Amino acid sequence: MVKILFVCLGNICRSPTAEGVFRHHANKAGIEDGFTKDIYIDSAGTAGFHMAAPPDKRAQLTALKYGVDIGDLRARKLSLQDFSDFTYILAMDSDNLQMMKRHCPEEHQHKLHLFMSFAENSPGITEVPDPYYGDIEDFDKAYDFIDRASQGFLKHICREYNL
Ligand code: 4NP
Repeated sequence: MVKILFVCLGNICRSPTAEGVFRHHANKAGIEDGFTKDIYIDSAGTAGFHMAAPPDKRAQLTALKYGVDIGDLRARKLSLQDFSDFTYILAMDSDNLQMMKRHCPEEHQHKLHLFMSFAENSPGITEVPDPYYGDIEDFDKAYDFIDRASQGFLKHICREYNL
């Protein structure tokens, strides 16, 4: 089984959107996710400010415009256990990647990547910018970046795992 964890700061804007969008694309491609399936998908935040909170309303509304419902997701904080439990740990930006690199045991460092490194046709875009202090257009932009990276990452794991 391949286990994928999306990580941002608060786990209420970018990473739950990535969880929902990636699940949407995987399911559309006939790949079901869950504990007993080929893939397992989750998200977490490096900070615990919003533990157990649903995604930010603006993130929910933006995802819903594209038919992706993330309303049932709840925020949680990244744990040390996540570094051993997951196969891929995908950071939304370099601050969160650096934060994870500082805490991740050596044998799991290879699991840490910038999510945007999997996006196709997106030269120069390395991060999903934090939309939290922005407006709805920043959420649209974050959604667009996340969508590109989700599609590229799905191709990547389909190739790697023959899904
Ligand atoms: P996220 O956005 O990391 O994409 O979930 C943020 C959410 C909350 C805060 C910052 C970023 N905050 O400072 O509370």
